[in-house]
Amino acid sequence: MKVAVLSGGGDAPGINAVIRAVVKKGIESYGYEMVGVRNGWQGLVENEFITLNLDEISGILPRGGSILGTSRTNPFKHKDGAQKILRNAKETGLGAVVVIGGEDTLGVAYKLCEMGLPCVGVPKTIDNDLLGTDYTFGFNTAVSIATDTLDRLHTTAESHQRVIILEVMGRYTGWIALEAGLAGGADAILIPEKPFDLDEVCNLIKQRQSRGKNFSVVVVAEGAKPKEGKEILYSNSTDEFGHVRFGGVGYYLGKEIEKRIDTETRVVVLGHLQRGGSPTPFDRILATRFGIAAIDLVHQGQFGRIVAIQGNEIVSVPLKDVVGKRKTVDMKLYETASVFFG
Ligand code: F6P
Repeated sequence: MKVAVLSGGGDAPGINAVIRAVVKKGIESYGYEMVGVRNGWQGLVENEFITLNLDEISGILPRGGSILGTSRTNPFKHKDGAQKILRNAKETGLGAVVVIGGEDTLGVAYKLCEMGLPCVGVPKTIDNDLLGTDYTFGFNTAVSIATDTLDRLHTTAESHQRVIILEVMGRYTGWIALEAGLAGGADAILIPEKPFDLDEVCNLIKQRQSRGKNFSVVVVAEGAKPKEGKEILYSNSTDEFGHVRFGGVGYYLGKEIEKRIDTETRVVVLGHLQRGGSPTPFDRILATRFGIAAIDLVHQGQFGRIVAIQGNEIVSVPLKDVVGKRKTVDMKLYETASVFFG
């Protein structure tokens, strides 16, 4: 059987580890012919494949990005996009597609699966906001980079007696902000799930100053918004899945804090540094386990499902239970982190 692998949406450290596992077990245990789809769903619309033999996957375990490329192409927004995919898959003789993606890419997989394309999903996003799995791969790497950044910001913030704001990714959920903030000892963590009150943030900083701590480090998720306001956007234009581009809440906060409490403030936007580069050992292992489980599902003919981790078990859940939903942060964990605010 010929089996394709594709990665769609924003990249996440560990995609190549998934590809390596899927291809290795697909060839050696099941005798499949493995092909890669270029640039996410776009490659299936445009019939762009590459051969994936053992040579192609050699040495890719620690490599960031995706050897296949990725895109935010939504075939349902292109004229006859879905039909072209079904036709191309048939003409190429694909027996299955392993789809590595987040909510958008897996949403497309669900619809195409309903239309007859046999898909198995692998949950990928640094945002960790997919339902059905405790963790997506890529998240641990992003948290680790953001934590290291917080450690570095602490030393300079303390030396200069400044407030430093770190803006991290997370448009609808604050997982990265929360876990990095907890691990990095942030003095306040602002997340999309809990609109913030600027006076409260300023009070936390003042509270520290009254204890002689003349520096503070605040982490904010890009999608966090003030209680009486809207999310701060970089641009109103939307991608093919209808997402606007977030960005700027860090600078908004910095200016407001300086205005309100006359304390020198600096802003750091972590941006794509938290998404690029080599995966952590945790993500390499998780991605590998996901890849093996995904090709096993293909072999068992269990389509329309994603692999997932629950506790320390690799399981699978139906795509229909995952798409169109979102896993928001654990508010108990937020309460734990908030013990250390101010
Ligand atoms: O992968 C999800 C995500 O990391 C979001 O948190 C962020 O808003 C988005 O990707 C940004 O991605 P890009 O710059 O590729 O549009």
